[in-house]
Amino acid sequence: SLLSVNVWNEDSSSKNLIPRLRKVKNNYLSMNKYNVTYKGQRNTAKLSPEKLLCQLRDRVNVTMIHGSDGPFNTSEWQMYLPRKNLSQEVGHFRQCAVVSSAGSLKSSHLGPEIDTHDAVLRFNGAPTIGFQNDVGEKTTVRLVNSQLVTVEEQKFLTDTLYNTGILIVWDPAPYHAEINEWYRKPDYSFFANYKVYRTRHPEQPFYILNPKMQWQLWDILQENSLEEIQPNPPSSGMLGIVIMMTLCDEVDVYEFLPSKRQTDICHYYQRYHDRACTMGAYHPLLFEKNLVKHINQGQNELIYTHGKVTLPGFRNMHC
Ligand code: C5P
Repeated sequence: SLLSVNVWNEDSSSKNLIPRLRKVKNNYLSMNKYNVTYKGQRNTAKLSPEKLLCQLRDRVNVTMIHGSDGPFNTSEWQMYLPRKNLSQEVGHFRQCAVVSSAGSLKSSHLGPEIDTHDAVLRFNGAPTIGFQNDVGEKTTVRLVNSQLVTVEEQKFLTDTLYNTGILIVWDPAPYHAEINEWYRKPDYSFFANYKVYRTRHPEQPFYILNPKMQWQLWDILQENSLEEIQPNPPSSGMLGIVIMMTLCDEVDVYEFLPSKRQTDICHYYQRYHDRACTMGAYHPLLFEKNLVKHINQGQNELIYTHGKVTLPGFRNMHC
């Protein structure tokens, strides 16, 4: 049927990529910027969805940088880091939505459905104003990358888009590095702008994601793939999904696995076209999507029509 042809194939491999993206992936493999020294297994016998969910729950430690962590335990940093940890700040949510920024959200009319969730996570510069009908208007958490926070042209310090909801910033770290090592050479030097933003918006919760999580998650992605994946951290999308699985009873993810509206338009809010946005270049996005498809608890038909995947929150799993 149309459905089985058009829903994400969880056994996708780099053979399914266009030659340009296959070449980009191979270049990242030979560059190995983060000194990945993965020596573990690659699963030839697939884990069941239940086992894989338990691996995610038990091995990915989702925490925010706290004033007691290594180089942040200075009196200066105590003034900037939020006092409450994230779960003290938000408690826990029942139904959550994660909204990818994919171009396939255009004309989806998913906005009202997305807004019925108790909490909504968005990424980077993804706007709601002007796009409410397709992406909703609620923003509970916004996960941003360190490049966005650092690079002047991205207007992080001045665009009011960032003034709503809880902010979380993440930055690529060396493979399984200690916080100290990462702190000395972050990928982007976002700490200065973090402090400026905190001074200007002291009431808005703004967290720094503990970078250990990204490689704990990457190891699971690699273990469950049949080939070498990009030795770079998972995408914001994949990090956001796992963050919400720690905070929520159930997580609906929209247009991470593309629907029938799949397009090479990168973001619903821009006109830029690039297949890499959906299939991955720097990030091991193809393998992230294979994993998410494997643990989906919703119907394939809802992937096709709504780009929607349903995942259980970690607290509701029995391992
Ligand atoms: O581009 P950006 O990182 O801001 O987008 C947020 C996330 O949405 C990405 O990290 C990726 O996981 C997902 N995405 C996608 N397909 C696209 C665009 C974004 O899966 N075309």
